[in-house]
Amino acid sequence: MIFSAPSELTLLVVAVLAAVTLPAAADTYDMVKEYAGSTFFDDWQFYDHFDNLTNGDAVFVSASQGLSQRLAYVDTTTNHAIMKVDNTSTVNFPDKRNTVRLQTNDRYSVGSVWTVDMLHVPYGCSVWPAFWSHSPDWPTGGEIDTFEGVNQVTNNQMGLHTNDGCKQVSANQSSTLVNSTDCSNLVNSNQGCITTDPSTKSYGADFANSGGGVWVTEYAQSGISIWFFPRANVPSTLSSNASTIDTSTLGIPVGNWPATGCNMDSFFNPQNIIFDITLCGDFAGAVNIFSQTCPGVCYNDHVLGNGSNFATAYFEVASMRVFSKTGTNTVVKGSNAASSPLPPSLRWSAILLGAWLLLA
Ligand SMILES: *[C@@H]1O[C@H](CO)[C@@H](O)[C@H](O)[C@H]1NC(C)=O
Ligand SMILES: *[C@@H]1O[C@H](CO)[C@@H](O)[C@H](O)[C@H]1NC(C)=O
Ligand SMILES: *[C@@H]1O[C@H](CO)[C@@H](O)[C@H](O)[C@H]1NC(C)=O
Ligand SMILES: *[C@@H]1O[C@H](CO)[C@@H](O)[C@H](O)[C@H]1NC(C)=O
Ligand SMILES: *[C@@H]1O[C@H](CO)[C@@H](O)[C@H](O)[C@H]1NC(C)=O
Ligand SMILES: *[C@@H]1O[C@H](CO)[C@@H](O)[C@H](O)[C@H]1NC(C)=O
Repeated sequence: MIFSAPSELTLLVVAVLAAVTLPAAADTYDMVKEYAGSTFFDDWQFYDHFDNLTNGDAVFVSASQGLSQRLAYVDTTTNHAIMKVDNTSTVNFPDKRNTVRLQTNDRYSVGSVWTVDMLHVPYGCSVWPAFWSHSPDWPTGGEIDTFEGVNQVTNNQMGLHTNDGCKQVSANQSSTLVNSTDCSNLVNSNQGCITTDPSTKSYGADFANSGGGVWVTEYAQSGISIWFFPRANVPSTLSSNASTIDTSTLGIPVGNWPATGCNMDSFFNPQNIIFDITLCGDFAGAVNIFSQTCPGVCYNDHVLGNGSNFATAYFEVASMRVFSKTGTNTVVKGSNAASSPLPPSLRWSAILLGAWLLLA
């Protein structure tokens, strides 16, 4: 569903009123687009190619295959969007398994907030899901990872990936679990500046058993912030589908990357929002990462076979909503159509090389 942009007259009136009568409301955002219900999948680009981005053992299907193979569809009972790994086919060596990767046709520039309300996130051995965003010119234009995990980890990790020079400095965040503060893709094999959510309700079985939750990602001139609310703590402004949200009412974010250490205009450009689930690959399949939470060999022991390993490998999404800073329109229409999706993070590339050498 697309909301019409405010007319110039409205903008003028709002601007005059704001200047004359209102204090600066820098944290207020108005809904500009909702992805939900029967129209959830209407405005996305499906990758439609095997995973040549992160070397996963996955084939990302087209939108029509996603529908016919029941890998990307709206459940008509719940009205929720399902995005999943194929768990009904037998995969034999050396084939890959079908799954999904889709990104919004529109991009969203600085001054945007996006929220996602999910009931279930993919997890299990070999599974590497993410809900994230990037600029098509990555690493120029940056990447914001709101939700990411691998295999059987129990906590969500959030982070940024950028050109050289962006750092997490003076973060005002509730998480104390900081893996790294340098966001440069050239540092630590492009690990990024990562913060781990201390709550196990942010991932896996604990997320699902708590009824899921809502993430809020704020991409503001003052920096990037991520909030996570497990179902029991979702504020009414989010659960009520309010058309305006004020991020200053959300409390301290779980992850925060202030512009102090990372100027937004230098490191970030309008973002495509992405859901994807790959299998093994550069991160989940790296031997020292995989062996932390799973037995055996990622591809051989988990991807191959009848798919019974993938019963929990799905996103169930009630809604995704995008907001623009009040009085502005941050929607960049359909701008990814002309450029092919570029490789996202070549995470753990050094580790991967080691893994390949071991497997070869
Ligand atoms: C992945 O494959 C697509 C389709 O052939 C191609 O356009 C793209 O350049 C490839 N990307 C990489 C990183 O190889
Ligand atoms: C990040 O730090 C957390 C908490 O110390 C740890 O559990 C997790 O394994 C780390 N993740 C990575 C990718 O290093
Ligand atoms: C959420 O609110 C918008 C208008 O603000 C409305 O168009 C949309 O249908 C609502 N979504 C749901 C799921 O009720
Ligand atoms: C951290 O953020 C909270 C919530 O927005 C705010 O009340 C507090 O003053 C901030 N602390 C610092 C040191 O900026
Ligand atoms: C699928 O494979 C697993 C492991 O090989 C096996 O335990 C299970 O019985 C199989 N399920 C079906 C329905 O064939
Ligand atoms: C496949 O996964 C779905 C959940 O997405 C589950 O309900 C179903 O039982 C699974 N099927 C098999 C054959 O494991």
